[in-house]
Amino acid sequence: MLKIVTDKVKSLRKKSFPCDLPLKEDEKKVLLEMLDYLRKSSNEEYCEKHKIRSGVGLAAPQVGINKRMIAISYSYDDKKIEYCLVNPKIIQNSLKEVALSNGEGCLSVPDDHKGYVYRSYKIKVSAYDLLQDKQIEIDAKGYDAIVLQHEIDHLDGILYYDRIDRNDRFKRKDNAVLI
Ligand code: NI
Repeated sequence: MLKIVTDKVKSLRKKSFPCDLPLKEDEKKVLLEMLDYLRKSSNEEYCEKHKIRSGVGLAAPQVGINKRMIAISYSYDDKKIEYCLVNPKIIQNSLKEVALSNGEGCLSVPDDHKGYVYRSYKIKVSAYDLLQDKQIEIDAKGYDAIVLQHEIDHLDGILYYDRIDRNDRFKRKDNAVLI
């Protein structure tokens, strides 16, 4: 099973390198393993048995590989969101912001860091998706946009708690919604 590094590991704070396309076989393998990890982690019993936490996204630096690849897998309202993105880039973002009212979490962060993590409410992401085997553009808003931004942050060595205002962890903003 994949080993996930924590925020004590220095490489998690490094900027990751872009991947050349087409992907190499070993890159494909690890990206699909990341997806597999997320799919399995959506099962509570599986998590208990293997002592892992459930997650909706994973970035390659979290498994010790400093390459610009992220996997995402979750479902809600009968909708399944799954991507294996390579070299994802945010090409548009709204001024309106959003944060999760319960704060964010991360498989690489064992401690709880309370506070609002404000991000763009709407974004457009351009990336190569291994699952569709093509270059795509994703229009995301709300929760979907938060997950993408959290994972893309990992590729630049940024963790969610870096974005919490330490002087006012639950600061309200006029241009932002809480979900
Ligand atoms: Ni994370």
